[in-house]
Amino acid sequence: MTEPILAVDLADLRTRISAKWTAYDPDVIPAWVAEMDVIPAEPIRRALADWMAKGDTGYPTSAGYVDAFGGFAERRWGWSIDGARARLAPDVMMGILVVLLKATSEGDAVVINDPVYPPFDSFPRLANRRVVRAALTDAGRLDLEALGAAFDQASEGGRRRSAYLLSNPHNPTGVVHTPDELAAVARLADEYGVTVISDEVHAPVVYAEARFTSYLQVPGLQRGFAVHSAAKAFSLAALKAGVILAAPGEDELLGQITGGPNASLSGVVAHTAAFNECEDWLDQLLGELDKVRRQVVTQLAERAPDISVALPESTYLMWLDCRALGLAVEPAEHFLTHARVGMNPGLTFGARGAGHARLNIATSPAILDEITRRLGASLPLA
Ligand SMILES: Cc1ncc(COP(=O)(O)O)c(C=O)c1O
Repeated sequence: MTEPILAVDLADLRTRISAKWTAYDPDVIPAWVAEMDVIPAEPIRRALADWMAKGDTGYPTSAGYVDAFGGFAERRWGWSIDGARARLAPDVMMGILVVLLKATSEGDAVVINDPVYPPFDSFPRLANRRVVRAALTDAGRLDLEALGAAFDQASEGGRRRSAYLLSNPHNPTGVVHTPDELAAVARLADEYGVTVISDEVHAPVVYAEARFTSYLQVPGLQRGFAVHSAAKAFSLAALKAGVILAAPGEDELLGQITGGPNASLSGVVAHTAAFNECEDWLDQLLGELDKVRRQVVTQLAERAPDISVALPESTYLMWLDCRALGLAVEPAEHFLTHARVGMNPGLTFGARGAGHARLNIATSPAILDEITRRLGASLPLA
């Protein structure tokens, strides 16, 4: 029988030195940053051990990683990438930053959604870019009217360079954008001359009811970038690497980023093994994540019925709408104090995150049972 993946003991997890497991006091169950409570797949551990035993600790080259990702993209999504238009990056956010540095200048604007992954706000600011927010719909989907207005504002009616950071799939709502939505984004980007950078790091973690489409798969697309990595799906954030992929009309910009910051060879080794050899592990993980996302929805409906939460189409992150609870403080603060569960505060994702908290469900059913029990017990009885 295959051993479950989401099965690491709480006592073992508490000995970890990663951000997730060291941020809080020992009585808190951490369920915040997007790390998974898993042991990475055996082929990854073997590849790293072999590589280390050889003392092969120099600089990376890109061919193996790009080929491995290309094979994975073809098998999972029927997407034939253009390897000549792929560049290694230290990780996803550095890949995004490198493209931003060349697609825009200081003082230019970068459009991001609201709510969205907090570094989409902080990285452009780090590079002295302005941020323009485009709200998502109440269902957490792209609001094309709001996006068009934000593109108009950011690009000053198409006269100034600007960029859009798309989270595809979307963190924190788990929404998987449809081919029609992506095509509409591409039309708007063309109209206003906006450079779209599609962060696709969550793409391998999509559940059966949805289907991932890369922004670069929009038919006839000429402009824009996608950034991928094995970090989220295979629990490899510690082993940094990523890949930037460019549309056919981006050769000039691609030339300007060649020779920029690179990945680490340890990351390349781990991610290459993940893309080449770990699809069975990923399929098993997806089956287990599917069960725990359903467990959380069912248990919260029983134990904390005023928290509103939908099954995410993608990611191991759940976006808890706690507005009906009428709490005096932000939900993450209430739950940290009264439930001893550490989640991401909704407001860090943007103003529309008010009254929300982000729960990381990539842990064992037993730990999730305890989390939902604690959340429910911390709420005043109606
Ligand atoms: C949307 C999104 N992009 C990027 C990252 C981070 O990727 P990296 O560590 O490769 O920069 C995360 C991590 O949670 C994420 O959710």
